[in-house]
Amino acid sequence: MNQEATTVQLNRFSRTLTQEVSNPAAQAMLYGVGLTEADMQKPQIGIASTGYEGNTCNMHLNGLSVYVKQGIQANDMVGLIFNTIGVSDGMTNGNDGMRYSLPSRDLIADSIETVVSAQWYDGVVTVVGCDKNMPGAIMAMARLDRPSIMVYGGTIRSGHYKGQKLDIVSAFEALGKKLANNISDEDYKGVIQNSIPGAGACGGMYTANTMASSIEAMGLSLPFSSSYPATHEGKQQECKKIGAAMKVLLERNITPKEIISRESLENALTIVMALGGSTNAVLHYLAIARTAGISLTLDDIQAISDRVPLLADLKPSGKYYMEDMLAIGGVPAVMKYLYQQGMIHGDCLTVTGKTVAENLAEAPDLDFDAQKIVFPLSQAIKKTGHIQILYGNLAPEGGVAKITGKEGERFEGTAKVCEHEGEIIDALAKGEILPGQVIVIRNAGPKGGPGMAEMLKPTSAIMGAGLGDKVALITDGRFSGGTHGFVVGHITPEAHEGGPIALVKDGDRITLDAVSRNITLHVSDEELAERRSQWTKPEPRFTRGMLGKYIRDVKPASEGCVTDEV
Ligand code: FES
Repeated sequence: MNQEATTVQLNRFSRTLTQEVSNPAAQAMLYGVGLTEADMQKPQIGIASTGYEGNTCNMHLNGLSVYVKQGIQANDMVGLIFNTIGVSDGMTNGNDGMRYSLPSRDLIADSIETVVSAQWYDGVVTVVGCDKNMPGAIMAMARLDRPSIMVYGGTIRSGHYKGQKLDIVSAFEALGKKLANNISDEDYKGVIQNSIPGAGACGGMYTANTMASSIEAMGLSLPFSSSYPATHEGKQQECKKIGAAMKVLLERNITPKEIISRESLENALTIVMALGGSTNAVLHYLAIARTAGISLTLDDIQAISDRVPLLADLKPSGKYYMEDMLAIGGVPAVMKYLYQQGMIHGDCLTVTGKTVAENLAEAPDLDFDAQKIVFPLSQAIKKTGHIQILYGNLAPEGGVAKITGKEGERFEGTAKVCEHEGEIIDALAKGEILPGQVIVIRNAGPKGGPGMAEMLKPTSAIMGAGLGDKVALITDGRFSGGTHGFVVGHITPEAHEGGPIALVKDGDRITLDAVSRNITLHVSDEELAERRSQWTKPEPRFTRGMLGKYIRDVKPASEGCVTDEV
């Protein structure tokens, strides 16, 4: 192929602006931003960063984007950085701010789709940290279906205080200790001031590290992307390598829909299970699959959980942090082990232009004698995955539980109903949360919240108050990846849509059974019918603005809360 033909192929979108005589204004603007005559022939790569100064998950991403741009330019392409939003779930302050968190995922997808489509970019690199930014970026890539690579901003380093390692959950749990008078004012302040030492995403196997690890397993980021901490030199090196990888994708026209397949989604979810990842992965992979036009259901996810054991002793339920993973070979070493055990599909294509199996040929081996972070199948922490899909008269269309085995597999108790998460903090302060209760937080669903708030604050406060193994919590909202304890979220249908969770009263008996995968409200059908006849659908909390639009568009949690389907 001659040079001109190659160039035409690589700039097949941007040439509309750079070459067609009918676009003089676009060409004038491109010269205006500094492009040369030679640049006008090159493919253009949009570099989407969720960087901003206001939180540690995103504060360094604009800097990483500059390294990505250098790698793009070094490979004879034009890299153009643009920004989109990123919301930090650690800073959303209960229901009010948290309402915007999950909707931000779809807003990120919409905004990347908008810029890349409108500006005719030939490929896209997303530089993202934090929970919603990653699935938002992947959904945009799937919609655009142009050569794409995701760069993860990287995990944070641990904080330290009085010889203890800390992270964001330490700060939340300190609140519970404070409410229970279990911590001095000085130590409370010490924990808050030292939990977060700088740039990077929350350090356990919480939602950000879950999504980064599984997206790498799915093949949409370079090997080790999820394992380099934000401040590790390897992260900069990864950014500089993006240009060469993107060139291969353009030359071979490898697009996300060739990478996202039923098998690669299974690889992603296999890593979620093996590493003990966040329940939010359920929501996001349902959404990613729907966006890519691939069938994936809650029952499919349960089937993966049934066959993949929990192997990693990572926080929130375990001991170690994501920063500890690099020393044992990172996610590639875990994938290699699972591939050798027949649990990973090796023939899926990845953004290296190679298959998973080809990438793993270069990966290190896990040394089970030298480390105690990831265990072999024979010593699995739990024989099946920790994510369990529960059904029953409280959740006819499903609920998502995180059961690592440490919290037991069955809980029966009496309902304590809260209409929003703030009530839990008040109830804890008043000593009204008692052992044996099943706390029900409702009207927190996708439409009712709106935005399906995370319950990290209540669950952490419960843990901090020493009630973690004495109460359970169910909700039509969702959980942070940092949540642990006996919790069931994503209950569908949600209360706002008349789901049975709307009919629960204080004192009702509830059974959560992770073995039979049942969630049962012990109230007769007749009584429930009577309660339903008294129930009226609440007015939407918002009718205008972003949240008003979200309430109108969002699908149920069991369908991934996507917003672009009729
Ligand atoms: Fe951003 Fe945890 S709040 S990664």
